[in-house]
Amino acid sequence: MKQIALIILMIFLAGATIAFAQETKPIQLPAPQTDIGKPLMQTLKLRQSARTFDTKALPQQELSNLLWAAFGINRPESGKRTAPSAMNWQEVDVYVALPEALYLYDAKANVLKPVVAKDLREATGKQPFVKDAPLNLVYVTDAAKMKNASEQDQLLYGAADVGFIAQNVYLYCASQGLVAVMRGMVDKPALAKAMNLRPEQRVMFSQTVGYPK
Ligand SMILES: Cc1cc2nc3c(=O)[nH]c(=O)nc-3n(C[C@H](O)[C@H](O)[C@H](O)COP(=O)(O)O)c2cc1C
Repeated sequence: MKQIALIILMIFLAGATIAFAQETKPIQLPAPQTDIGKPLMQTLKLRQSARTFDTKALPQQELSNLLWAAFGINRPESGKRTAPSAMNWQEVDVYVALPEALYLYDAKANVLKPVVAKDLREATGKQPFVKDAPLNLVYVTDAAKMKNASEQDQLLYGAADVGFIAQNVYLYCASQGLVAVMRGMVDKPALAKAMNLRPEQRVMFSQTVGYPK
């Protein structure tokens, strides 16, 4: 009897290990399409916040384009990005909360690196739509990258730098028929804990993205 229970337990653990490994695999995104989109003035006319989202998933090509627009590398020779950052600190990390897991966007490799093998969408905000929208971005600053900045400057420059990225996301969405909302209504300590952040990392804002409903 004990042996049977042991075998069942081993099969269960093997299954769980395989499931975990599958869930947490890095995602190599396709190259971003940088020759698409509406002209800037038309895009600006369409930029807006939305609070209802279809649950339909974003294809990987859309994710790649969106993340490149957000904070991708647009000058490979210098490693500089689509959004500016104070002192070129590049201190903002873009986390990607998808139904299957939480990932970190690695702009250089164009890869989503698994961080937490759980659906953390609900934890990214206090508003009901966040748990069903297909994507929530979480903007996190890393004080370890902001050399010699005072606490006040870390907040000031960090918030400004996140703002540029969030606006890039708004504009990409407006251009491509997606919708988005920037969100400060976030339980930041709880989210930082769920994301296993280091003490120098600070959750600044979230931004929900999806198709219009
Ligand atoms: C820094 C910042 C924080 C915001 N936080 C929230 C939020 O927590 N929840 C929300 O529904 N909208 C939030 N918004 C969206 C604003 O409410 C929205 O931009 C404003 O109402 C103007 O609407 P528009 O974006 O369509 O022009 C935030 C916007 C900014 C810039």
